Amino acid sequence: MSFTFDDDTAFELELARTGRVITVPANRSVLQALADAGVEVMSSCEAGVCGTCLTRVLAGEPEHRDSFLTPEEQAANDQFTPCCSRACSPRLVVDL
Ligand code: FES
Repeated sequence: MSFTFDDDTAFELELARTGRVITVPANRSVLQALADAGVEVMSSCEAGVCGTCLTRVLAGEPEHRDSFLTPEEQAANDQFTPCCSRACSPRLVVDL
């Protein structure tokens, strides 16, 4: 299943624990881009429903596309679901 759309754009994902920066291409999910880079994140539904992939966001603004977090939790912008969510900012720093 893919949660990318035609007008999605690429952005950078910084992995805070290693300082690594990977690019999330327009046509790949964050989860897919992480897997491409050899970084495994636990996932299950890959549709923004279960919360298994929930990842802490340290900087940047996620574009939430899940239905797991409450609107209040989404608005806090301190966690996101990389299976389906993307970024509004050019770079997202995550706790990975
Ligand atoms: S894997 Fe279920 S919300 Fe991401």
